[in-house]
Amino acid sequence: MTAIKPLAFVRTLAAVAAVSLLCGAATPAPEPGQPQYDADGRMIFPADYREWVFLSSGLNMSYTAAPAMAGADMFGNTFVPLAAYRAFLATGVWPDKTVIILENRGGTSQGSINKRGQFQTTDYMGAEAHVKDTTRFKGGWGFFGFADGQPAREIPHQAACYSCHEQHAAADTTFVQFYPTLLPVAKARGTLSKAYLAETADPAPAR
Ligand code: HEC
Repeated sequence: MTAIKPLAFVRTLAAVAAVSLLCGAATPAPEPGQPQYDADGRMIFPADYREWVFLSSGLNMSYTAAPAMAGADMFGNTFVPLAAYRAFLATGVWPDKTVIILENRGGTSQGSINKRGQFQTTDYMGAEAHVKDTTRFKGGWGFFGFADGQPAREIPHQAACYSCHEQHAAADTTFVQFYPTLLPVAKARGTLSKAYLAETADPAPAR
């Protein structure tokens, strides 16, 4: 066995540090809140999304006449990174590399001093992501479902996620009609979708 001389060892360390600095410069780290993917192309769950801007909550929202979850209550909480939120305020559309997280959580009326109404529980029911990455996804946006915080594959484009958001969302395929601080912005910036404008247009006056 040959012993490594201390000086040689220090030189080796310096060389390793220089190489990693160079590599770091070649691939700049994504900005906070921007999507990150693993080597298999799966999206990494943004574990810090609770530090982002809160857009709004929905309670028991369902897109069919049937309840979303019979016998149970669920809140949906939507979060977006601060930089993307600010860009939407300025332009009425989302910048490239926006991640929007919809967190699902249990709701109940039973607890502590509560007598009426519902509050959210610690029962976490997974999260979904809507991601704008124009060079990566067909149509510019991809959807992901995260059950347990593990990396997730993009949901295939045949899924109803894409068609419903494209056909009914108020701005940039996102449901801004349900985010009260953003709807007036999209209106003022003229970025409301044709579908949403048609859906909300006043009916023709009766003759
Ligand atoms: C029938 C219509 C419909 C379908 C299908 C649908 N969504 Fe949505 N989605 C909505 C509505 C309405 C909202 C806004 C209300 C809310 O926050 O729950 C929304 C909001 C979202 C948001 C928050 C960001 C945004 O774009 O507004 C995400 C993330 C999301 N949906 C993911 C998904 C995923 C993933 C699927 C498919 C597995 C899916 N959605 C399928 C109607 C739909």
